Amino acid sequence: MIKKRGRIVRMDTASTTMIIDAERAEYIYYGERLHSATERMDGVSSGRKIFSTPGKDAYLEYGAVFENADGGFAADFVYTHGKILPEKPIVQGLPSAYGEGKTLELKYTDAGTKVCLYLYYTVYEDSDVIVVSSKLVNGSKKEIRVRRLMSLQMDLPGDGYTVTTLEGAWARERHCVRREINGGIFVNDSKRGMSSHARNPFVMLQSANGTIGCNLIYSGNHKETFETDGNGITRVLVGMNDFMFDWKLLPGESLQAPEAVICYAPDEDELSLRMHAFVSEHIVRGKWKKRERPILINNWEGTYFQFDEEKLLSIAKAAREVGIELFVLDDGWFGHRDDDTSSLGDWYDNAKKTGGGLAQLAEKIRGLGMSFGIWVEPEMISEDSDLYRAHPNYAMKIPGRAPVRMRNQLMLNMADEKVQNYVVRAISDVIARSGAEYVKWDFNRSMTDCYGKGIVAGEYFHRYMLGYYRVVAKLVKKFPNVLFEGCAGGGGRYDLGNLCYFPQYWTSDDTDARERIAIQQGTSYAYPQSTMGAHVSACPNHQTGNTNPLSARYNIAACGVLGYELDLTALSEADRQAIAEQVSFYKENRKLLQYGDYYRLHGKETEGFMVVSKDKNRAIAVVNRMRNPICAPYADIRFKGLRAAAIYEIKERGGKAWCAGGDFLMNADLPLREWYDFKTAAENSGSVMSRMFLLEKRS
Ligand code: GLA
Repeated sequence: MIKKRGRIVRMDTASTTMIIDAERAEYIYYGERLHSATERMDGVSSGRKIFSTPGKDAYLEYGAVFENADGGFAADFVYTHGKILPEKPIVQGLPSAYGEGKTLELKYTDAGTKVCLYLYYTVYEDSDVIVVSSKLVNGSKKEIRVRRLMSLQMDLPGDGYTVTTLEGAWARERHCVRREINGGIFVNDSKRGMSSHARNPFVMLQSANGTIGCNLIYSGNHKETFETDGNGITRVLVGMNDFMFDWKLLPGESLQAPEAVICYAPDEDELSLRMHAFVSEHIVRGKWKKRERPILINNWEGTYFQFDEEKLLSIAKAAREVGIELFVLDDGWFGHRDDDTSSLGDWYDNAKKTGGGLAQLAEKIRGLGMSFGIWVEPEMISEDSDLYRAHPNYAMKIPGRAPVRMRNQLMLNMADEKVQNYVVRAISDVIARSGAEYVKWDFNRSMTDCYGKGIVAGEYFHRYMLGYYRVVAKLVKKFPNVLFEGCAGGGGRYDLGNLCYFPQYWTSDDTDARERIAIQQGTSYAYPQSTMGAHVSACPNHQTGNTNPLSARYNIAACGVLGYELDLTALSEADRQAIAEQVSFYKENRKLLQYGDYYRLHGKETEGFMVVSKDKNRAIAVVNRMRNPICAPYADIRFKGLRAAAIYEIKERGGKAWCAGGDFLMNADLPLREWYDFKTAAENSGSVMSRMFLLEKRS
């Protein structure tokens, strides 16, 4: 709910309140929901600004910076109006949050230049999230150059915050990193043309006053800045990165910043529940919103590039026999692609590898009783491809310079409309001729050689993103029944921008169950498990060489959208039987596993996850022991999210049931003994032991 009385605006969600003095452009309050009246708070001046520009404000990082025709950077924005809009304005060309939610529009004008700054706050009461964005409109008679336009500026009281970021690298995405910010300036950003494996746009700030999470609905370069001023203010800025950013704005034109997301919660468990609710309700859309997702088999780690029709069908048949629902044909089915040096861009069938082509292969898969899915990497081009030979100018290259070849490939210049239209045509054709029910959209390199003829260099990164979004938006609209899964060399572009188009995302190329624990734990701070592709793969693991029991590999993958990624025909009968049981258990509990309230369980020797049904009547917990020293101390665990006064039956999968109260299970530090399910010491090397518990409310 938004209420405006004079200059004071109050925004309430179910459990939080934000108060702004629109005229002074100041935050008065953000936190736990207030119940007292606040209309007469115009006497309070906090000094904590909702935006700032050079020439006026103190010397902290500014939310908006542009160069005037007179060559200066100064702007003096004065309050022009504040309105509650009946509908959220459309965010042109960018992915955005949707659904019921009132919007506050604040307008400020610089008297000198007539440049206007608009700020938007949309309140999603159900998930306790406020979505914030900004827009600059050039009302002057001359061109201006925008050097920075942040989506959110938030000045917070005091310093001494703990900032949590999700960091890593390829195959090690979104590990949770915590830092004390008690002076100076700290930046979390990406300059790779993608939200990146290295630093996700999600950030979380914690103090004795609670927890604030911020995220950005954008998949390109981003920047989150935390600066303390020595006078008791911590400034948080969230938005597109201003790295090499220089946007020309002609008279009458406007520049829209992507939407930022903020959420307050008393603690980090509650924060991720709220963020998850927001993503499920206001980001993921279309047919697959809140729908149970199919269990898939992907042939990548099973065959890599070496397959033919017979091999694919044998894997599909074995998958069907254990109850798997969707077969996904990964890289290598097109052009003459037998390794990663060729054919990107030639999205026509390699008859040798697919039998008579995609259409008939897909029909045979459907004949087995499964749906058919296909891998594509639409934004890329191989120099050894017919597309490159016909249109070398489609590739992103700087004239006169040798391009950087990452994974032996170049990128397409998606900032060019001709290229965008080609991609829409080519990928539409793949989907139409195969009838694919699922598409895995990959993106396997970072951006370099940014150049497009006629495009201002400082606009390139963002123009690329606008082109990319135009293409995915068209395809998703054209094929509303298809389940699109995003991928970027694993989880390199796992962000809210992409989740607006792809209801799920491949979490990481690291499929080692042990490594996955930290990756999935980190991811879960910001993104619900219904978006997390998680696969059981072969052992020894192809990325790490570790061996983990099949039960552990399954338990950990079952806390996301389950898939298998291995050659099922190479497994023993006993393993196939175990997988059939895993698949059947997952199907029975899929709604709870994919959409239950998700908690992280941290123990002395353990890391785990827990999903609890909305009515708190059922729960599944997975507890993983990270080390297995001989004679190890007991690993104590506490469950979360249960009804304190209820009695639950608790049963380890395959074990005996017993009963205990919710408050006991959440407070008692249960000692877990008997972890060893390997036979020899050699089998223990590098492995993670995992146990799954089912909890059911009895009274
Ligand atoms: C990326 C993906 C993998 C696989 C390969 C194929 O690395 O993350 O899952 O699709 O590309 O080349």
